[in-house]
This record gives sequence, structure tokens and C-alpha cells, in this order.
Amino acid sequence: MNIAANPVIEADQTVYLKDYQKPSYLVDSIHLDIQVYDDHSLVKSKLVMQRQAAGDLVLLGRDLELQSITLNGKTLTNEQYQLDAEQLVIANTPDLVELNIEVLIHPESNTQLEGLYQAADNLYVTQNEPEGFRKITFYPDRPDVLSVFTTRVEADKKFPVLLANGNLIEAGEAGEGRHYTVWQDPTKKPSYLFACVIGDLAVLKDRYTTSEGSDVALEIYAEAKDIPKCHIAMEALKHSMRWDEEHYGRPYDLDNYMIVATSAFNMGAMENKGLNIFNTSCVLADEEYTTDAAIMRVQSVIAHEYFHNWTGNRITCRDWFQLCLKEGLTVFRDQSFSEDLQSAAVQRIDDVAVLKSHQFPEDSGPLSHPPRPDHFVEINNFYTATVYEKGAEINRMMATLLGKEKFRQGTDEYFKRHDGQAVTVEDWVAALSAGSGVDLSAFLIWYNQPGTPKLQAQGEYDAANQSYRLSLKQSLKAHAKYPNLKAVPIPVALALFDAETGEQLVLNAEALFENGVKDGVYLFDQNEASIEFTGLKAAPVVSLLRSFSAPVNLEFNYSDEQLAFLLQYETNGFNQWQAAQTLLERILLNGHNAQTYLDAIQKTLPFVIAKDPLLASRLFDVPTEGYLGSRIDQDYNPIVLNEAREALLNTLARELGGFVKETYLSLDPIAQKEFSQAMGVRALKNIMLSLLARQGDSEVFDLAYEQYQNTGNMSERLGALKVLVWNDSPQAQEVLQDFYTRFKDEALSLDQWFMIQAAHPKATAESIAYLTSHADYDLAVPNRIRSVSGGLNANPVNTWSFGVQHFIDLAKYLDEKNPIVGSRLLQVLSRWYTLAEPQRSQVKAELEALKSQVKSKNVSETLNSMLSI
Ligand code: TRP
Ligand code: ZN
Repeated sequence: MNIAANPVIEADQTVYLKDYQKPSYLVDSIHLDIQVYDDHSLVKSKLVMQRQAAGDLVLLGRDLELQSITLNGKTLTNEQYQLDAEQLVIANTPDLVELNIEVLIHPESNTQLEGLYQAADNLYVTQNEPEGFRKITFYPDRPDVLSVFTTRVEADKKFPVLLANGNLIEAGEAGEGRHYTVWQDPTKKPSYLFACVIGDLAVLKDRYTTSEGSDVALEIYAEAKDIPKCHIAMEALKHSMRWDEEHYGRPYDLDNYMIVATSAFNMGAMENKGLNIFNTSCVLADEEYTTDAAIMRVQSVIAHEYFHNWTGNRITCRDWFQLCLKEGLTVFRDQSFSEDLQSAAVQRIDDVAVLKSHQFPEDSGPLSHPPRPDHFVEINNFYTATVYEKGAEINRMMATLLGKEKFRQGTDEYFKRHDGQAVTVEDWVAALSAGSGVDLSAFLIWYNQPGTPKLQAQGEYDAANQSYRLSLKQSLKAHAKYPNLKAVPIPVALALFDAETGEQLVLNAEALFENGVKDGVYLFDQNEASIEFTGLKAAPVVSLLRSFSAPVNLEFNYSDEQLAFLLQYETNGFNQWQAAQTLLERILLNGHNAQTYLDAIQKTLPFVIAKDPLLASRLFDVPTEGYLGSRIDQDYNPIVLNEAREALLNTLARELGGFVKETYLSLDPIAQKEFSQAMGVRALKNIMLSLLARQGDSEVFDLAYEQYQNTGNMSERLGALKVLVWNDSPQAQEVLQDFYTRFKDEALSLDQWFMIQAAHPKATAESIAYLTSHADYDLAVPNRIRSVSGGLNANPVNTWSFGVQHFIDLAKYLDEKNPIVGSRLLQVLSRWYTLAEPQRSQVKAELEALKSQVKSKNVSETLNSMLSI
């Protein structure tokens, strides 16, 4: 009675949005009974189903050993259903059906970390989004089938913790040293939000009272030694709960909210209803063990998963093409939350930096797709920067245009209309339009087409009329699969500055009205348009796309002096940073002189350091080689770029002279009251320390060694470690050994130890092999793989030489063991076609050779797309 022996004929496996059909049956209720044994698990289910459309009864299932199936009390024989590797189909079924199914599964040998899997000796967890539930039992595993879940979990008492979604309604003995619990989730949900946990973990408890006065038990489960590292997450959770009440009017709806941490996890975290499961990297936070950046990330991921309770869970997606409906909106919400936690300008800078360094390159290469794709082979390949980050930008644009009050009216309408439903992107935009009274339907174009629009702007001052005309033009690069590209609505947030005094000018009210400019935002929704500003006694300096009001590539022929002006006088911190970035990019890619940047930064810094040290540190962000490489579309030579960047960093170090050491010595993180101020000071100090090393300061290694030894803070310790290791200092081996000894039992800290060594600028195939054959390297733990691969990829010169083999070997190995992660790692090579020859042909040949060696839909689809350029 096992899976049909006949191999499925592999026709075109592409799924299309246009083929969407309602499911033939809905599930009124499901009772699950999951019994975990050491060498297998037994899953019994009872489904009560009702017909809602014509067609066969289709249950999806993968890697399941079917033990028995009964329909309305009668056991079905082999001839009464069709079973293949993907589904079980029963024809001619009545309108009301009760199914009882028993399957056997093997979580103990599940390396793909999808479905129910053993994550550690003492822990079993689930990961069911998007299509993992079908690896637990046969079920209409699609997001538009919502049901009430009752779950019984049974296991040996060596696993004291037995959790599932909802309320605990029963617990007891199961004989032979076993016990069980029963949970009932009162809200209907799709199967991808189902979760259960079987383990031996400690717990941190707290409580929260909602705006409606109900009391919620909060619990974070982790290894006992990690419980002290859960307090930041707990505070962030309570903060998120309050924030969603205040900003979106959304209180929590269950009596409990549980979070479980595991180090065996493919992604960041998962929003299972009332029972989130988190990668340890996104829940454990502690100054001593994790960096400031990681602490910020923990808070944002806690918020992200919590916000999914309304945007994702209470209102979910009709089908997986709509993924950006929940992800884009939830990312926008978590970004807004984080803007309230730290310097809002820096949060925006960091979010845009991710967008520009990941999403823009993705959208300009062979993996480009619309935020809402219209076809896919493997949905796991579409958890992309485009779906998440560009999706968030679309929501941000609509929010910017509407302003706070109308945006809130729009979201209120969305929750009122669609609570409890599985909906589409069209439903979201329609509700937002109806609630706000503003027709936003043109924004659907953003969801449906790929590519980053180019926004070309030109300014012209007319002295006789004292007016300034800003002309705008938008265009998109042609795309083979999407021939009918349309103009998109682009909110252009802007300001004008007095070129003499640096003061921001009040935009002429009459002109604003006449030209459609409002609150400094102009909605540009044509192929070409222009706006005229009047009453200007001299030519102004214009600042465009303030706070990056639209995800476009802006071209405006600023002089370097105007950019320096904006770096100094813009009151919008994001645009100050953008001006610095543009100047630095010109130096690196177009051979401009560095002096203008240097003069401006020296004039500006003292003020910024005093006000916002974190922003000050970002003004030194020299674009990474990876980002710069992604701006080059052909004949890319990583070595040439590396040399240019090294030269610039050396110039900066030399020209900044004594300022570097003075700043380093004068900054004191301990003296800062706020975490975000201290974080800024630490970031700035670390930048100064690395510049000191470039100056060849005779004391720098002693200073770094001292910083390394005399701190209990991971950002400070790592900053020093990097300088010592990457410069091959005499102390390098000693501090590496010391770090290992201190943190060998702290997986997240040890990840940093691997990362730093892999990111050594002079890493070699041998030094990487030393890391990947280290006793603590573990191919079963994605975090550890990513620490080495991510470190290696910090230096594109290495990525594109010996790194190619590294990534190809990983994709080959993970193809079967963990195809989700294998496919993502392979994407590191997606811009191979931009390389200069002979590298281009060499990498291409290696990718071609991989084709016949991989089987998973995940890796094959990615590889085929990568090669289809
Ligand atoms: N829904 C999750 C989030 O963004 C994403 C996620 C977690 C996921 N784990 C996954 C997606 C595994 C695919 C596979 O919050
Ligand atoms: Zn999400």
C-alpha cells in the first residue's frame, strides 16, 4: 500500500495563475493525531469535508506511507483511488464526506526541514509554509482551504513539551512512558499555518493585556542556556502587540502566543497561528553573544511574525501567486515598527540598502519576476527579495500617497471586508481604495510587471520668470516574458533648497495646487511630465525621492558639488546618505575625484555625530563590491573593481588623517544612554579602527587587541577581531583561538567565527576547505552553511574564482538533502553572464554541467532560469 511504483511522467511542471480553480471540497474540521516514535511517526487524521464545486476529491501528499483510508466509514481499496507521488484522488464522491486516514512518516530522517522534522536530539518541529503539510498527511494543502484544527500530540516523556496551535484542552498519560496533549485552534486556518512541537526545552513566560482587556500568556521556548537571551525578543513581542493596536487597531485574538527557537531552520521564522517557530538567529539576542545588527533583526522579525497574525493569518492568500499580499504588507509593517525603534533615517537607509543590493540585481537579471508572479515551477523559489522587499515598497508608496489618516481608513476597510478570508492582491488594493476614497488601482501595474523603472529627471531654471521646471520621464527595460510594460504611478517626494544658504524652501502653494504637488509629493504616473515651481529668486537645489519614495533608478545630472551640498544641507537623513552613496559610486565606477566627498563629509560629520552617530557611520558606507558589481551589466571584472575600492578606502584613510584616531579615541559607547546611540558609536568606532589599520598606524593592532579583550559586547569584539584577522596581524591566531574557546558552545557566535575567516579578503580554496572540514561545520544546519558561504561571498573576487566550485558543490549536495537552501545558495551565481571573458564562459560551462546532476524542482528551476539569458 505504499506510494505508487510507477514514476510520474514529468510533463511541464509549470503552474499558472490564470489556471486558478476553486477547490472541489472545503474542510469543515480536521482532527489530527500525531504520535512520535524514534524510528517513525504515525499520523491519523479525520477530515469532515463538504463539496463546493464539481470535480474529484483531491488530497495532496508527498513521501507518505499510506496505512489505511476510509470514506464515510468504509475502507477504500487500491482500486477506489488513484495515488501517485504527489496526490491521492478519489472520484465520484458524495457531497458530504468524512475521511479517516492513517499514514506513516519519517521526521527522524527528514533533512529538508519541511513538514515535520527532527531538528535536534531533543526537538521535533514543523515547517509547513508553503507546501509542507502534505508531507505530514494527505490533505487539500492549499491556502484557500480553511479549517478548524484539533490536534493530539503524543510522544515519549523524554519530550516534556508537546505543543500545537490554539488552546490546550486536554493532557494525560498514554502508557509505556508516553504522554499526550490535545489542542484546539478556534480560528479557521489554512494548513500552511499548522504547527506542532515535541521537545525538551525551557521556557520564558510573560503576560500581556490587550486593548480589549483580554489577558494573553506569552511563552518563548528555547534551550535552557539560551533563556537569558530571550528577554529582548519578549520585550519586542509585547511592543509589537501594542504597536499593532495603536497603528492598525489590531488586538491579539487568542489566549496564548508561543514562540519556539530552533537552530535547524531554512529561513528566518514562521508565523504559524499562535505558535511561531523561529530560527535561533532571529530570536536569541544578547550583547555578549550577538551583534547589534542581529539584535535589531531579532526585534524586526519578532514584529514581522506577530504582524502576520492579521496580515497573513486572519486574512490569508487565495493562492501562492498572492504571496506578496501577506509578505509585502507585513514587511512594510515591520519596517515601520523598526523606524520607531531606532533612528528612522538609518532604518530606511538599511532597508533601501537591502533593496538595492538584492532586489535591484535580482530584477535586472535572469531571475527577474513581478512581485506577483504569474507562473512558477517551485513556489519555494519565490520567497524572494522581489516578493518581500519590492512588495513592501509598493505598500509604502500607497501609504506615502494617502498619508497616515487615509491609509488607516483603507486598512480598516481591508480588515472589515476580508477577515477570515483567503484573498488576492486585487482585493487588497480595492479595499484600500474604498476605505481611503482614493483610486489606487493603477498600483496593480507594479504588482504585475517585472523590472526596476528608470526615472530620468531634468531641472531648468528660468531667471526671467523666476521659475524652475522639473521634467520627468520613466522607462522600463524590455522583458521577453512581459511584452506590454506600462508606466507605473511613482510618488516623487521632493524638496527645494536655497543654493546660497542651504535652507529648505517653502514650495509655492499656488504652484503646488496647479501642478498637483501636495505635501512635497508629486504623483508621476505618465511616461513624461513636468512640474513648474514659481517665485524662485535663484536656481534652487532639488532633492528627489526623499526617503526613497519609490523603488526606481533615479538619473539626475547633479554636479558633484550639488551632491556635496545635499550631503551637507538635506534635512532628510536618507537623502544625505543617498548623496554620499552617489558621490562614492561616481568615484568608484566613473573615476571622479574623491575630494568633493571628503570636503563635504568633514564639514558635515561633527554635527551628525553629535545628533545621530549611527547615521554618521552610514555616511562612511563605501558601496560593497557585490553591490557595485551588480551595477555592471557586461565585462565585469571583479579584480578591477576590488582594486578601485581598495584605492578609495586608502585615499579616505590618508585624507582623513588625524581625524580617524581622534574620533576613535573620543567615542565611548558606555557613555550613551540609549541602545541606538551606543550602537551608532560602536559602528563608528569600528569604521575608524579599520581606517586606522589602512593608515598603517603603528598602534592599531594594540588598540584592536585591547578593544577585543576589554569588552563584553559582541559588536565591539567582532569589529576588533575583523581588523586583526583581515590584516593578518601578529595577534590574529591568538584572538581566533580565544574567540573559539569562549564561544564554542554558542552556535550563533561561532557562526561569526566561521564567517570572519571565510570573509578574509585573501581567503583561498584551502582556507575555505579548512572551515568546511572543521569539526564544528555542519551541512545539516543552514545557519552554519550560510556563515561560510556568506563570508566567502563578501569578496566577489573570491566568489568568482574558487567560490564558483564551492557554490556548485553545495547546490549538488543540497539538491536532495535540502533543495530549498540549495536553490537559494546557487542564486549567488546568477549574474555570471555579466562577467568578462574568459570567466563568463568558464562559469557558464560549470553551470551547464550541473544541469544533468540535479533533480529537485527547486534547484532545476533556478538553474534553468539562470541559464536562460
Ligand atoms: N512566512 C515566513 C515569513 O516570511 C517565511 C518562511 C519561513 C518560509 N519558513 C519558510 C518560506 C520556509 C518558505 C519555506 O515570515
Ligand atoms: Zn513573512
